[in-house]
Amino acid sequence: MFNGVVIAAYIIAAVLFILSLGGLSDQEKARRGNLYGMLGMGIAILATIFGPGVQSYWLLMLMVLVGASIGANMARKVEMTAMPQLVAMLHSFVGLAAVLIGFSNTLSLSVDPTHALSGSARTIHDVEVYLGIIIGAITFTGSLIAYGKLTGKLSSSPLSLPARHWLNAGGLVIVTLLAVSFIGESHSLFALTLATLIAFAVGAHLVMSIGGADMPVVISMLNSYSGWAAAATGFMLNNDLLIVTGALVGSSGAILSYIMCRAMNRGFISVILGGFGAPATSSGSGDEEPEGEAIAILPEETAQLLNQAKSVVIVPGYGMAVAHAQHPVSSLTNKLRDKGVNVRFAIHPVAGRMPGHMNVLLAEARVPYDIVLEMDEINEELPETDVVMVIGANDIVNPAALEVPDSPIAGMPVLEVWNAKYVIVSKRSMATGYAGVENPLFFRDNTRMLFGDARDSIEAVLSAIE
Ligand code: TAP
Repeated sequence: MFNGVVIAAYIIAAVLFILSLGGLSDQEKARRGNLYGMLGMGIAILATIFGPGVQSYWLLMLMVLVGASIGANMARKVEMTAMPQLVAMLHSFVGLAAVLIGFSNTLSLSVDPTHALSGSARTIHDVEVYLGIIIGAITFTGSLIAYGKLTGKLSSSPLSLPARHWLNAGGLVIVTLLAVSFIGESHSLFALTLATLIAFAVGAHLVMSIGGADMPVVISMLNSYSGWAAAATGFMLNNDLLIVTGALVGSSGAILSYIMCRAMNRGFISVILGGFGAPATSSGSGDEEPEGEAIAILPEETAQLLNQAKSVVIVPGYGMAVAHAQHPVSSLTNKLRDKGVNVRFAIHPVAGRMPGHMNVLLAEARVPYDIVLEMDEINEELPETDVVMVIGANDIVNPAALEVPDSPIAGMPVLEVWNAKYVIVSKRSMATGYAGVENPLFFRDNTRMLFGDARDSIEAVLSAIE
């Protein structure tokens, strides 16, 4: 393919990626945004395959076919609730790819120095290789640990090693010092390998030190890191599209992290430094038992309360996704609205297991967008609400976040559902949520526990409503 055609294809792909991000910021345009992204990526892949630098087409085709079929198979099978761990795994691939490309680039120059650069061009190239490998290594192990925590294979409690911040800072200082031995004349492969191993350890430790409740920020930070690793690889390979795409992913991930930090009341800088989760003294186990007794309620009694209500707020959480209860919830909403009840949804920014998780489920169940409100919009209206239905949510409605200063979720803004006249919580047991913290809401006088799978419970309520 002519170089001009490749450049034109790169520009079209970059524009499509920008349009894709624009579309994804709005629920109504999200589907179109996804299509733009897919089209852009298709163009980018074709331009790369038929662009300059490709020698072994058969090998490339074979790898693309194997990779694409594994990816398609995984995407087809993955449950919506397992999406975050899939995303974490995919971030780890980006990190590993950056490390491998960096090493292959360095090794090929030492095997065949005829293409080696000299002077300042060489220094700039070495910096690009070094940065790509280090950011990639941190992203790789950090994402693997995030995957372990999200799947429950690793404990979600933070690992609190003594002087953990000094360990991270020390690791990064050594990595910076080793750069001197790699960048420039000496070009030490040993220094590069040692720095990579330290970066692997720092990446793992950064994420191990973060408590379960703070994982949303970790996911978006790793998303951002994977973008910067790709951008550094783009510089390394002289590939403009990779630079632009990496920068788009890196900066949008950083903006998302900032929004997540604000939602969780965490400092952005302390997040970047890692280990910002629960305070070092807190086990994050939520051992403190709330006092009192939980009052159970039956679906028929729930229907009665809803029948008498004038305003109802529904708070969906991770359990609604697990139970696939969004469709009965949508039918319940329609039924109540037909009876003249003012029904709204309250969405916490970290409800579920990924940004926008609840919005996606509600859109799938065709809940009108205009009754889906953000936490800040609805919190002040909760005291005037007759019934709040909490469906499979736990941490996001936990008053301990505001009332227990040493709680692992202390300071996180929550939906203050206890201010409503009645709160009905649909869940299977008294078990804790993702952060592993006991929830005093379940023991409040105005709370009723509707025990059982959320889908079964809501269907039972639905059939009991006149
Ligand atoms: P959680 O605190 O995880 O609570 C979910 C509740 O759903 C559980 O207590 C569980 O109780 C219940 N549940 C599970 N399966 C159910 C079923 N089939 N039917 C009914 N209930 C069921 O969820 P949340 O309130 O949405 O809060 C989200 C948490 O995840 C936060 O801690 C957040 O920091 C974290 N997190 C969020 C993200 C993002 S980006 N959103 C990413 C990673 C982590 P039972 O077992 O008793 O049923």
